[in-house]
Amino acid sequence: MGEDITELEFYGDSLLLYDSVLIELSSRINIIRKANIIHNERDPIENVKTRIKSPKSMINKLKMKGLEPVAESIRGNVTDAAGMRVICTYIDDVYKVASILASQKDITVLETKDYIKNPKPSGYRSYHMIVELPIYISDTCHRVCAEVQLRTLSMDFWASLEHQIRYKHDIPSHKMIGAELKRCADEVASVEMNFLTIRDMINSIKNNQE
Ligand code: GTP
Ligand code: MG
Repeated sequence: MGEDITELEFYGDSLLLYDSVLIELSSRINIIRKANIIHNERDPIENVKTRIKSPKSMINKLKMKGLEPVAESIRGNVTDAAGMRVICTYIDDVYKVASILASQKDITVLETKDYIKNPKPSGYRSYHMIVELPIYISDTCHRVCAEVQLRTLSMDFWASLEHQIRYKHDIPSHKMIGAELKRCADEVASVEMNFLTIRDMINSIKNNQE
């Protein structure tokens, strides 16, 4: 069920709200990037992806929560119908971008999950925020939720690799691959700290030369 249903058929009028909240958040991110560029500062962001949760995944999620699998069940129960992933260069850029978004007065941060400080047992690392912001559709203001996932390039690479075996519990080497991924996650975390140190060393050399 839910395989053939289109986004518009499932979400109805709410689709415009989810599309709009992603346009709004993308624009905030673009402004952060442009502000850095015009000040000759390093752009902290590598790339940005947005997605509306597929009707199929949303139907599954609602059912798992014991809710009726219709768009009306989403409000107040599911906050990730609209999702944005912000890929940053360095680990401290993740916190910098997250705090800029959180500081914007019309954005309410409903929840944060710091899987960088506290990685998941799988080894998954990312900083998650559930945000709520005003979306104006002609003369009406709606408060709309979205999930923002912020991570570095290497965290993103790890997550896409791990995603490929995440639901394939039936493959014989699943446990071994999982253990190997966990080991890689720890190594990536340590290498990322080295990247910061190297960046700071290069910066101090550059500053001394100026
Ligand atoms: P959901 O019902 O999945 O939304 O769980 P939750 O509400 O506890 O949210 P959580 O912040 O833990 O995870 C939300 C999203 O983060 C998922 O939909 C994935 O995109 C991503 N994620 C979380 N854990 C993992 C993981 O172990 N591996 C990968 N690859 N992605 C993960
Ligand atoms: Mg979630």
